[in-house]
Amino acid sequence: MSGPGHFESRAEVYDRARPPYPQALWDRLRELGLLRSGARVVELGAGSGLATAPLVAAGARVTAVEPGPALAGLLRRRLPAVTVHETTAEAARFDPGSFDLAVAATAVHWFDLDVVLPALHGWLRPDGALVVFRHAFGDPTVAPTPFRARVAAITGRRGGPPRPGPGELDTQEWATRLSGGGRFAPSHVEEFRWRAELSADGVRDLFSTFSDWSPAEVAEAGRAVEDLGGRVVEHYVVPLIVLRRRRVPPVLRSAV
Ligand SMILES: C[S@@+](CC[C@H](N)C(=O)[O-])C[C@H]1O[C@@H](n2cnc3c(N)ncnc32)[C@H](O)[C@@H]1O
Repeated sequence: MSGPGHFESRAEVYDRARPPYPQALWDRLRELGLLRSGARVVELGAGSGLATAPLVAAGARVTAVEPGPALAGLLRRRLPAVTVHETTAEAARFDPGSFDLAVAATAVHWFDLDVVLPALHGWLRPDGALVVFRHAFGDPTVAPTPFRARVAAITGRRGGPPRPGPGELDTQEWATRLSGGGRFAPSHVEEFRWRAELSADGVRDLFSTFSDWSPAEVAEAGRAVEDLGGRVVEHYVVPLIVLRRRRVPPVLRSAV
């Protein structure tokens, strides 16, 4: 299944195969004063809680929005202190000024931002912030490894229209898109690079969670790892975009 329902259909595998976000990212959010004990945080598209757990561990009071019942169930079991709303970001409703911080981890590309950004602007306190980051599985600044060449060969054979996914804009373009008609202003953009060693089974599990990969492609990626000796090192990037809520959107100001 391609599309946002893919993660729900593979909830258990998603939970065990997707990596955590780098510690350096959480350290940066702490340094920026965004991640702190008692902060009221709304996390949109929380999944099974890969980003939620560090927020809770930092003492934040987290409200999670997650439409998938299986993922929401995993999240509730793992983090009982979190209030989980089993709905979409578009359908969620909160009182004005309810949150200090909004977080979307590898999720924002699934939202209708024309609906969600105005809603978030209302839910955040006047000087609140929106933090968006994602796993980018691959690092264009690292020379392609033999495994990455095999991955490129698999994806290069795809026909038809582009499959939905997070990679259609680069980080700077995402920062512009998230500025939301003047409701938010990017205040910090950074990329965190890291690497992971994966077995063939690890690749099969992880790649099966990618919404744009078919089962046949996943099997081929697993065979590529076996051909290459059974383990591969992958280079990954986590782009982080911090946006400050603007008090009066210019579009609205010019309209009055
Ligand atoms: C790639 S997963 C990321 C999950 C988690 N944030 C993480 O970092 O592992 C994308 C998540 O967005 C959720 N999602 C998809 N469409 C959504 C929407 N319209 N509103 C809220 N969440 C959505 C999916 O159910 C899924 O849990």
